[in-house]
Amino acid sequence: MSLQLEQLAEPAALRLAAACRSRVYPPGAYRVRPSGCIVTDLYPQHAQALRDFDIYEDDVWIASYPKCGTTWTQEMVWLIANDCDFKTAKEKTLNDRVPFFEMMTVLELPPEITDEALKGAYSGNIKRPRYFKTHLPRDLLPKQIWTKKPKIIYVSRDPKDAAVSYYHHHRLWSGYIGTFNEFMDAFLDDLVLFSPFWSHVLDYWSLRHEPNILFNTYEEMKKDLPGVIRRTARFLDRHLSEQQVEQLAQHLSFSSMKDNPAVNNEKYVQEEIRRNQMDDRDGQLRFVRRGEAGGWRAEMTPELAERFEEWTRRHLEGTDYRIGVSGGH
Ligand code: PPS
Repeated sequence: MSLQLEQLAEPAALRLAAACRSRVYPPGAYRVRPSGCIVTDLYPQHAQALRDFDIYEDDVWIASYPKCGTTWTQEMVWLIANDCDFKTAKEKTLNDRVPFFEMMTVLELPPEITDEALKGAYSGNIKRPRYFKTHLPRDLLPKQIWTKKPKIIYVSRDPKDAAVSYYHHHRLWSGYIGTFNEFMDAFLDDLVLFSPFWSHVLDYWSLRHEPNILFNTYEEMKKDLPGVIRRTARFLDRHLSEQQVEQLAQHLSFSSMKDNPAVNNEKYVQEEIRRNQMDDRDGQLRFVRRGEAGGWRAEMTPELAERFEEWTRRHLEGTDYRIGVSGGH
């Protein structure tokens, strides 16, 4: 299956791109067919290598649409798979332990960033078993995923919360200076990076009964983190004692992750705020930011929320997917 790239020409996409002043997380530039996924102008030069990347059966992949609980899931999965080795989890950053597979397509490092961990987070030579984070939709994953069948843990979230979180993410990493409403319009029009949201979620949802796929949700992690830890451990064939489950749930709590320099990217956040001279008075320019299910209520008008509801109803018609409900194992 060959990939076709269409340059984005929609006025809303061009406006969004013009409002992004930083190249750390560049805006979408192309739509890839057949998946329809929005990718940056860095993607085409890496597309083939990503598709042809060698997979091992013992890889573990964490997949998600951006801002749906990826980091939270990465930390949970790595610790479950490594017998709650909190010491290493503190010493090595999460970017190092669970690198971002397609990072080179979304991160053009400014020359002044010389940090080896960040620069080298993506490497084909990491020790097995390997752990990867990806935001790629199902149809853009490396081809060998379908023959080697490594374990994949997908995490989804209410798109209203993901969209608000993604707006702040764009302010921080893309230097986005457009309005909140313009960003939301672009999100609902499937024009932001890694959109369309619903086909991303539903394509992985359709695989939830496969033995190598687990489908979790952010909302369930908020509601019953120990339960999600236990289910994920079973899926990964690991046994955790009840004491370990409790310790891990504590380690993964919002307050603990917010202050954990191995996962919160605070060093890079502060560099970005300084470099782009951003106004951080509202305190929302954080990687581990608000951490709520339903936090959108503080930032969306009822009219905007209703647009999201209508958009969601339209996309979920005829499916058995419900926001916040996990599936499969
Ligand atoms: S990314 O950039 O796509 O990898 O972002 P991602 O990690 O998927 O999502 C970031 C949001 O997850 C929240 N988060 C948490 N919520 C609750 N508990 C814990 N421990 C936690 N860790 C991260 C983070 O705050 C982002 O959501 P918002 O709504 O912006 O706070």
